[in-house]
Amino acid sequence: MEREELSVPQKELIRESWQTVSQDTLHHGTVLFTRLFELQPELILLFHYNASQFSEVQECLSSEDFMEHIRNVMSVIDAAVSCLDCLPSLDEFLTGLGKKHCAGGVKLESFNIVGVSLLFALERGLGAAFTPDTREAWTRLYSAVVRAMSRGWDPQEE
Ligand code: HEM
Repeated sequence: MEREELSVPQKELIRESWQTVSQDTLHHGTVLFTRLFELQPELILLFHYNASQFSEVQECLSSEDFMEHIRNVMSVIDAAVSCLDCLPSLDEFLTGLGKKHCAGGVKLESFNIVGVSLLFALERGLGAAFTPDTREAWTRLYSAVVRAMSRGWDPQEE
């Protein structure tokens, strides 16, 4: 991540806030995806396990397969938080992850709404501790993750 490097205090804010959120990633991840589906309900159509489609958001959110996706998302964020000083070491993994999402029909733009939903879930989880500085730090970290994943939509990566 060359652009918008995280400062030392920003890294500290991220680590501190993640300590709270990571105590129950499934809960906070469920808040994130509940918000995501409120903002863009059609995204639910991209999740189909054993070729079956969910007809209701609640059915999706409570399915074991989807909960595994929530855990996966949160563990990618956890990896980024554990690696704030070595984010480029995640580049290859994140590019590959981007490729899988591209192949699964996910549009890169949808990751902006995931970002909005992540901030929503953090705000819900942290309350007053989610200060404007903490928001800014998370916005930068999430942008770095998406920037790395976005290479998966780049035809040159094929
Ligand atoms: C618009 C938002 C997203 C959609 C529609 C989406 C969709 C999917 C789908 C359909 C799969 C395959 C089925 C499954 O494993 O459950 C998947 C896998 C996965 N997703 Fe997402 N995803 C989204 C956002 C994210 C984000 C933000 C992350 C992490 C930063 C992420 C991390 C993963 C991981 C780690 C896997 C497993 C990949 C593997 O099996 O190797 N996803 N995603």
